[in-house]
Amino acid sequence: MMTPSPPPAARRRADELRRLIEHHNHRYYVLDDPEISDAEYDALLRELTALEEKHPELATPDSPTRRVGAAPLEKFIPFRHSRQMLSLQNAAGSEEMKEWWERIAPAGDEPPPAVWCEPKVDGAAVELVYAGGSFRAGATRGDGWVGEDVSANLRTIRGLPLSLRPRKGVPVAPLLEVRAEVYMNKTDFAGLNRQAEERGGKIFANPRNAAAGSLRQLDPRLTAERPLRILCHGLGTVEGPSPATQREAIAWLDALGLPTALRRGRLCAGLEQVELFYAELESARESLPFEIDGVVVKVDDIALQERLGERSRSPRWAVAYKFPPREARTRVLDITVTVGRTGALTPLAILEPVWVGGVQVSNATLHNIEMVREKDVRIGDMVVVTRAGDVIPFIIGPVKEARTGEEREYHLPRHCPACGAEVLLPEAEVIARCPNIACPAQVKGHILHFASRGGMDIDHLGERLVDQLVDKGMVRDPADLYGLRHEEVAALDRMGDKSAANLIASIDRSRRTTLPKLLYALGIRHVGEASAAALARHFGSLEAVMDAAGEDLVEVQDIGPAVAESIRAFFKGKANRQAVEKLLRAGVTYPPPAAPAAGPLSGMVMVFTGELEAMTRPQARSLAESLGATVDPSVTRRTTHVVAGPGAGSKLAKARKLGAAILDEAAFLEMTRR
Ligand code: IVH
Repeated sequence: MMTPSPPPAARRRADELRRLIEHHNHRYYVLDDPEISDAEYDALLRELTALEEKHPELATPDSPTRRVGAAPLEKFIPFRHSRQMLSLQNAAGSEEMKEWWERIAPAGDEPPPAVWCEPKVDGAAVELVYAGGSFRAGATRGDGWVGEDVSANLRTIRGLPLSLRPRKGVPVAPLLEVRAEVYMNKTDFAGLNRQAEERGGKIFANPRNAAAGSLRQLDPRLTAERPLRILCHGLGTVEGPSPATQREAIAWLDALGLPTALRRGRLCAGLEQVELFYAELESARESLPFEIDGVVVKVDDIALQERLGERSRSPRWAVAYKFPPREARTRVLDITVTVGRTGALTPLAILEPVWVGGVQVSNATLHNIEMVREKDVRIGDMVVVTRAGDVIPFIIGPVKEARTGEEREYHLPRHCPACGAEVLLPEAEVIARCPNIACPAQVKGHILHFASRGGMDIDHLGERLVDQLVDKGMVRDPADLYGLRHEEVAALDRMGDKSAANLIASIDRSRRTTLPKLLYALGIRHVGEASAAALARHFGSLEAVMDAAGEDLVEVQDIGPAVAESIRAFFKGKANRQAVEKLLRAGVTYPPPAAPAAGPLSGMVMVFTGELEAMTRPQARSLAESLGATVDPSVTRRTTHVVAGPGAGSKLAKARKLGAAILDEAAFLEMTRR
């Protein structure tokens, strides 16, 4: 059958959307200068996704919608580089730098050769291959000759153009291999570790490890969630004319729309100028958005590069002029624990204050209890401290030779330091948590979550306002929001009559909500919007969810044992039940589940299991519902009828146990005809 071709207007819009999205990727990820909000960007991407779903033939291989979605790999495929990917020789200090310089510019060579200097980004080396201007493949360095094909992961990096976007008059080589560094911005790195701290994910020692680890995920969907960026700094094989100097090479890549350090680099004539650039960059180091560990100095003239040649693994024509390492030793005075927004307990080492690379450090997060054990950090230990991502103090490990025997092992407290509730540390988890939603350390986070779009959807309630409300003691739990009075809100910082009225009106409006939104708003760990909706559909009321046993909970679609346990633990807490009751007393309501149509099957609660022949499951479901039945996804005590086809398993067994009526498909159909 021929599929109708998409209307020309749809084609034009899809082209335009692709162009717009890549334009905004470039603004955001390459120029660090976004023109639109995240929400506007998401809207463009959603519109394109919808268009391509409706008209699949409109999708192009380099559409931004194709950045994610490749299937997970079993292992990476080896990738042979057409030219060896070299590493760099280091120069530690000006003496070694001078030695390098004298090798490339023997005394008497006048004028000295120009060198291109740029920041040395601390990340993972990759090669990108563009054929006919389209991104074809990319690989890690590996041993220099053979790396791993990480193409699908590289595609997820939004700063990497899937097709080159040459500025006017700029030639595109038929084959272009680019050498680049995949890295992470300091703030993104810090955010990633913070998230891991809360969720019990992997903690990375520094942005380089985070970038390298993210690039080597077998499932590209995981890579897509990591905030990776890329910076191109050199060429591999190029077909057709290629630039005569290093600076021109970078300028060319830049003009093709690839991210480079063109604006952060400098052409230097002589060692003195290199030293000056090095000193300037070192003092700018703190304020750069990404971590750098030195300056890469490259002979500018490519013909001269070729004459100088290379040694086994590194070229003679380039050197990494490294900054001094930022490490120091100090003593662990104590280990305490902080309670995060979601109740995660994070061990924190209190250090004897020490200067690390120009910043005084007096404490360092140990992320989680497992890390304390793994590193074997004890109270009283001498430790080596560095600054990961340039900003965050990080303990590399204890100096075990310096131990006196006086050091003490650390144990997590049994009770939350903020509220005294008993701490939970489920087996097989590394994150200890305070389970009390009224815990003062968590209350701001809870309130923001409660008010979020997927929750009670309270407009005008931002972070700053929540800070004030909690700090001033006006709000101690979500239900307190419903008791706020106009005058007290209007008297807060940066508020006035109008904004107070807006806030109170939004809070008021949120009272009439829906069960899924309310369940989500409670902030039960592991209960996202989808599970909240499934719970609501299955149980129909908040009370039913609150009283559900673990075995009832796992019957809900997509609710596994861990989620079920978390729901049960949540409602077991007295403080949590009280907080929920307080919400209901404050007037929060939701409509009861839609009553099924009245009909011959009214009052029956049916479950379908096994295969059906005459119709699909959804068809059977709507047929039953149209005749007045309620259809549940799984068998519970309220199930009255189970329609079982071939292949029915545990549901059938359970139905027998609970005494529900069991029918086959034919009997069901018979019933619907009566
Ligand atoms: S040029 C022949 N430029 O550092 C190698 N490398 O430690 C020429 N790196 O392998 C490399 N930033 O992965 C160059 N601006 C930059 C760089 C850079 C980071 C990496 C690169 C290299 C490694 C050596």
